[in-house]
Amino acid sequence: MPTHTPNQKPYYITTPIYYVNDRPHIGHCYTTLIADVAARAQRLVGREVFFLTGTDEHAEKVSKTAAENGKTPYEWATINAERFKEAFAFMGFTNDDFVRTTEDRHIAKASGYIQKLLDQGDIELGDYEGWYDPSQEEYLTEMVAKEHDYKSPVTGKALEKRVEQNYFFRLDKYEGWLREHIESGAIRVLPEARKNEVMGRLKQGLNKVPVSRKIKEGDADWGIKMPGDDEHRIYVWIEALCNYLTTVDTDDRRSFWEGEVVHLMAKDILWFHAVVWPAMLHALGEKIPETVYAHAYWISEGTKMSKSLGNFIEIDQLRAYSDKYSLDAVRWFLTTQGPLGANDADFAHSRFIEVYNADLANSVGNSMSRVGNMVNKYFEGKVTGTCNGEFGFENGTSLQTARTALENAGKPVDDPSRTFNFAQFTSKAVDDAIVALEKLDLESMLDHGRSIVRHVDEFISYSAPFTLAKQLDTLEDGPHALSSILYSCAEALRIASLLLYPAMPGKMAQLWRDWDCSLLRDPDDADSGFVAPLHELAAWKGEHGVRVGQTISKGEVMFMRADAKEPAPGSSTATEPA
Ligand code: MSP
Repeated sequence: MPTHTPNQKPYYITTPIYYVNDRPHIGHCYTTLIADVAARAQRLVGREVFFLTGTDEHAEKVSKTAAENGKTPYEWATINAERFKEAFAFMGFTNDDFVRTTEDRHIAKASGYIQKLLDQGDIELGDYEGWYDPSQEEYLTEMVAKEHDYKSPVTGKALEKRVEQNYFFRLDKYEGWLREHIESGAIRVLPEARKNEVMGRLKQGLNKVPVSRKIKEGDADWGIKMPGDDEHRIYVWIEALCNYLTTVDTDDRRSFWEGEVVHLMAKDILWFHAVVWPAMLHALGEKIPETVYAHAYWISEGTKMSKSLGNFIEIDQLRAYSDKYSLDAVRWFLTTQGPLGANDADFAHSRFIEVYNADLANSVGNSMSRVGNMVNKYFEGKVTGTCNGEFGFENGTSLQTARTALENAGKPVDDPSRTFNFAQFTSKAVDDAIVALEKLDLESMLDHGRSIVRHVDEFISYSAPFTLAKQLDTLEDGPHALSSILYSCAEALRIASLLLYPAMPGKMAQLWRDWDCSLLRDPDDADSGFVAPLHELAAWKGEHGVRVGQTISKGEVMFMRADAKEPAPGSSTATEPA
């Protein structure tokens, strides 16, 4: 049985709340997917999870694009918030809430926090002159502005010099505190390379942060007013950050904030999350987030995605991939090949096909259907015996029988001293997967699932059950050996499927239906939750293990092999006449 004891605190994971000036694309889906995979994995481990995503609506660019589209800001925000919700439903995300910053529940609480900071003197009035990036709605320091030739580091558009009377948050007061907490890991900034960047920037010193915008004539009536000062609105970033707390600042959800808090985002907005937000929380007397994780970017066919190039991977394209290769294949590709670490990742069709065939069609899907087919062919679809995984299978006797069958058939036996210990192998894979999950190394977590599949494949090649099956009448121990071998394969794949589930919930739930495994509360609903925590579910031959008499039906092919020559689904080449 797996022995690693996971953290038991409630787990609260968030994504950035996305701007609603435009529709969602692959980048928004990616961060939310990573959060979904982590949330599903933590629920599987047995933790109480709250997974939050949503939309950031009070930005100036929302009111601007709304006007361009002949809508009020709120109408436009609603149209796009719905697009985000639809995209996230399509991706199978299990977020527990979707916050819109135009909701009263957010506005009331966020204003309250700002009021408290004002009352305490952590927010004060002052003059501000600085370089404003209108596309990102943020001020940049003179140094950063100069470094980028007074152009937006993100969009390359010219920065604007703005002089304003503003309210400021005294971030400078918390410089020492921040350095100490980030350096020590009290605020765990991941990946490590990003932590070094943040520490480097902290060493250059901190300024006060503007937290309001003076309302000008002709401005759209959009945004939350500064408490006690109708001439100012709360700067959208400051208000947006508050969403993480406003949404769970209720009697029934507070325990999530007191638990383990994980903020996910891309590197573009790490500073706000690793520095500004923790300082605000500290000033408010609130607990700080445990983890701030900033991944890198998706690029497309080798090129940075941008509006001007019009090369964003759109949701429609992901849908086309999903229609052709399955949603779980899309989730798998994005999760395992995405920019989770410090380097950008390329969405290239050829790579998709390569990974799809190697990981899914030829590995996970093939292994599962191979074992299902053998149980059907040799035992009429019923599990006929179990096997103590401790020695591979019953003291090696079954393995010896398999070797004899190979010798009888005149086939070579690989390394005759080889043993397999499935109970140990699977238990270690589960423990290692949980450790990887705690570091948000989701690729590695999933690879521990695949390592079991690879082990099963190796075992099948080694023990050659198809050769043994032809000698059942002549080998005395033949039927028993074959059933032990197939039991070990099926039980190992069942445990692997648990580790693969966070990325591929639909396909794994299908496998459990085909194999009659009762792991989910509702077998027809992949999101219904598990009947027990992972360490119980994953126990070899345990209460939830494969049992004698269990029906293993063949089911449909999980992942059909893909033809590398076919054009990318949803791309213009796919629809062009030949
Ligand atoms: N509204 C702010 C966030 C406020 S959070 C309190 C914002 N919104 S955004 O719509 O621009 O979303 C930025 C986030 O979208 C990134 O941090 C990342 O999570 C995701 N991505 C956007 N483009 C991306 C890629 N090309 N690749 C990967 N993720 C990216 O900033």
